[in-house]
Amino acid sequence: LRVEWDVSRVEVGGFSDFMSKEIDEQPRSLRDTLAGRVDQEGRISLDELNITQEELKTIQKVVIVGCGTSLHAGMVARYALEHFVRVPVEIDVSSEFRYRDPVLSPTTLVVGVSQSGETLDTMVALSEAKASGAKTLVVSNVVGSSMARMADAVLYTRAGPEISVASTKTFIAQIGALEILALYLADLKRTLYPSEVNELIGRLNAVPEAISVALSQIKEYERVAQRLLGYDRFYFIGRNVGYPVALEGALKLKEITYTPSEGYPAGELKHGPIAMIDEQAVVVAIAPKGALYEKVLANVEEVRARGAKVVLVVNEMPAGHMASDDDVFLVPQVHQLFSPMVDVVPLQVLAHYTSVARGLDPDRPRNLAKTVTVE
Ligand code: G6P
Repeated sequence: LRVEWDVSRVEVGGFSDFMSKEIDEQPRSLRDTLAGRVDQEGRISLDELNITQEELKTIQKVVIVGCGTSLHAGMVARYALEHFVRVPVEIDVSSEFRYRDPVLSPTTLVVGVSQSGETLDTMVALSEAKASGAKTLVVSNVVGSSMARMADAVLYTRAGPEISVASTKTFIAQIGALEILALYLADLKRTLYPSEVNELIGRLNAVPEAISVALSQIKEYERVAQRLLGYDRFYFIGRNVGYPVALEGALKLKEITYTPSEGYPAGELKHGPIAMIDEQAVVVAIAPKGALYEKVLANVEEVRARGAKVVLVVNEMPAGHMASDDDVFLVPQVHQLFSPMVDVVPLQVLAHYTSVARGLDPDRPRNLAKTVTVE
């Protein structure tokens, strides 16, 4: 399936700006990205693959590179690749990768994640990886982009054109595509049984509907965002796949509201960041149901005791773990490794609402470009 589009013809429709339109389009972007990936024999397919299946079976290490939101999507995928495929995964900022003398070989798969497929730092990282003999794969939203032409294999996100500088729908689509890659490799390397792969594909196909349910709560998310307008610093915390969600929530708020915001692994708080917590700080904790749920809530206790305003991203009201002035973003529960695609939604809405409420243009933040083609 190929989706061609003409950016000049994209219109904002009934929305106030492209960012809110693109947030709204997320279930469809993910559904289109996942559609048609499983053939009649139940095998997953990628788009362009100039690497043989035999070569892919020999992959011993995966290295993911990207910038900004694309890097965060890669960070999410690392958990699925390690868990499902049992290969070690490194992740690096594209602009750092080439300067650290990375150890690569023909059994390394270097995955470049780039919405545009044109970001220079990621492109250079991929070309250096290729020159050193590694296999390269790109996840891109633009058919025929420079990186798509350069890499050995391509996995397209089918999110449609993204106009707003801050990425939203392509983040979710990138994670979806990378989960497909993880399941493809797990199937090939037989680290999962075909029945397990099928079961996981089913769970993945349920995520667009969960995002729709989250989007039906926008008004409630905005009411919470409104109560947070007076605070001057935000700390987003999460563990496991919640950690890249924390980074992405902080990035969105920085990008379009210029509010000081940081993302931290929740367990790392006590090693420094907690010193910054006071009554002017908001702590947004990403705490989906799963193995680390209680641990994140324990980290929340620590910041609440130091006066922070607490906001929880949870699947249900955490009875017994809340204070009266905590706020909650309720999101539907999905497979834990897929939860970032749902948990990020209220954080996008928080950033968008704050930007508009402050009279800023969420689509065109100062100092930023949609695609950075310089080093
Ligand atoms: C710029 C944009 C970000 C984007 C990053 C990577 O910094 O402002 O929103 O995440 O580039 O772009 P790419 O096209 O490579 O995904």
